[in-house]
Amino acid sequence: AQPVIIDCDPGHDDALALLLAAGDSRVRLLGVTTVAGNQTLDKTTRNALRILALAGIAGVPVAAGSDRPLVGELTVAEDIHGSSGLDGPDLDGPVGEVAGVHAVELMRRLIAGSAEPVTLIATGPLTNVALLLRTHPEVVPGLNRIVFMGGSTERGNTTPYGEFNIVTDPEAADIVLRSGLPTTMIGLNVTHLALATTEVIAEFRGMGTRLGTICAELMTFFASAYRREFGFEHPPVHDPIAVAAVLDPSIVRTVPAAVAVELNGTHTRGATVVDLHHRTGATPNADVAVGLDVDAFWRLLMAAVRRCAAG
Ligand code: BDR
Ligand code: CA
Repeated sequence: AQPVIIDCDPGHDDALALLLAAGDSRVRLLGVTTVAGNQTLDKTTRNALRILALAGIAGVPVAAGSDRPLVGELTVAEDIHGSSGLDGPDLDGPVGEVAGVHAVELMRRLIAGSAEPVTLIATGPLTNVALLLRTHPEVVPGLNRIVFMGGSTERGNTTPYGEFNIVTDPEAADIVLRSGLPTTMIGLNVTHLALATTEVIAEFRGMGTRLGTICAELMTFFASAYRREFGFEHPPVHDPIAVAAVLDPSIVRTVPAAVAVELNGTHTRGATVVDLHHRTGATPNADVAVGLDVDAFWRLLMAAVRRCAAG
């Protein structure tokens, strides 16, 4: 199984990303690190612990990382994820302990200790990942690739051209994209194809397990937020697509392209400028997702959630 670390800010769709990784034996989840984004760091960390506990995942360390972007202030996505960051279900119950080291240090140790190169899957702002690359460049040979949910080849969701994870920490995204490491960008142009429809929610509920019910309740809250904020009929589940791309590359079609992060635009700070048609002559620095096998994605996700619930 491929060793992976998930850096996340749960977050309704981050929760599904964790379950997908935990429930599929093609990856081995070495650790989970958290970042401020959808909610403050204390909340995203608690939420990561809650999801792992609900899924019955023991022995995967969770470490808290950056509580703010590299530059500027944090603006959380309370409108989409609620005041807890995982509003909807009742998630009470015992949770594990957070590791006594910073996320960046946990990532360093896990990468150093892994016999095989590690794939880093980032589903929140890229603050921790950028700090890791800047403070511990010696980890680079131990990394296989960075797969991140963020950006878009099209328009944004937080500003007209900026997607939330990149807008939250554009400097961090810039560092990652200019690191020279292989990267895969899972942007809104594909994540908006994976919608938690009424049938998806019914399938979660129909599992007849506490975890299935919680997924249904999470998606019901997420749906009402997306309906209110964006007028979407069904909410897009962004983050698990990044995990799916690692589990089965045939599910996500990518093309190599040069991706730059707009750091200074008057109206477009945080936009990903994707040179899909090779107009600039810049060398591609990312495999950019341009297509998704939607049915195969949902089959993977449902199977993983069932496996987590079965223990
Ligand atoms: C991204 O922003 C967050 O709200 C989601 O968890 C996802 O990572 C989508 O723009
Ligand atoms: Ca996220």
